[in-house]
Amino acid sequence: MSPAETEREAVIRFRDVHKSFGAQHVLRGLSFEVRRGETLAVMGPSGTGKSVVLRHVIGLMKPDAGSVEVEGHEVSRLSREALSELRQRMSFLFQEGALINWLSVGDNVALPLRENTRMPESEIRERVQQKLALVRIPDAWKKMPSEISGGMKKRVGLARALITDPEIVLYDEPTAGLDPEISHSINELIRDVQHELHVTSMVVEHRVRCIKTVADRVLFLEQGQALIDLPPREFFASDHPRLRQFLGTDPD
Ligand SMILES: Nc1ncnc2c1ncn2[C@@H]1O[C@H](COP(=O)(O)OP(=O)(O)OP(=O)(O)O)[C@@H](O)[C@H]1O
Ligand SMILES: [Mg+2]
Repeated sequence: MSPAETEREAVIRFRDVHKSFGAQHVLRGLSFEVRRGETLAVMGPSGTGKSVVLRHVIGLMKPDAGSVEVEGHEVSRLSREALSELRQRMSFLFQEGALINWLSVGDNVALPLRENTRMPESEIRERVQQKLALVRIPDAWKKMPSEISGGMKKRVGLARALITDPEIVLYDEPTAGLDPEISHSINELIRDVQHELHVTSMVVEHRVRCIKTVADRVLFLEQGQALIDLPPREFFASDHPRLRQFLGTDPD
């Protein structure tokens, strides 16, 4: 394959995906792709299924109909071993952040390596230090989660998500609850990390400025479908009435 073709290769592909919870039909024929090295931002009203979409990518949920492919494999058809292998190449930054309160910052970041690999402790320490430096908190190892700010917790979560050098990273509202300035710095960090590590990513995000910083494309999810899927510049210039209405009610 030529480099140009590799670039266009879809790493994540949803084809006509449907998902219901009881009588609630959440995804209603959702189709989209994320190509290698690309960052897709997902936007849409609360409760439209943005987190549900990410859970399908890592195989925590299965579609009722349609297919979800990652690296060419249909996720819901993988064996347990194959799914676990695929998951080792992915990372998920959960909406809730979820640091473990009784572990120090460094031990939180080290956790995925200690739990899933047999890497020697000296190498683990080196890697953790490297990731703490990457997220610009090189001196935070010994701090406890209760001693650090919300913005710093997000950085620690990001370092932990990146510790295994994943090829795919999914971020569910990485800046939720943070002020605009810190949100922007977290997004700049995400962008720098993407460029440095060449990861493919999806990020659920609401802030226009943050999306403009990180995204190559923006998908607007509405009524369980991809209503709009465009590069940021065209997306935000779009005069789609539903998008104008949604953005009009957004604080920034
Ligand atoms: N495990 C589940 N069981 C039942 N219903 C669920 C489950 N997960 C999600 N839902 C429902 O699916 C809908 C979409 O949920 P989801 O969490 O994906 O929304 P969202 O777009 O991420 O919203 P928010 O912006 O508030 O995070 C919601 O109505 C939710 O209640
Ligand atoms: Mg959500």
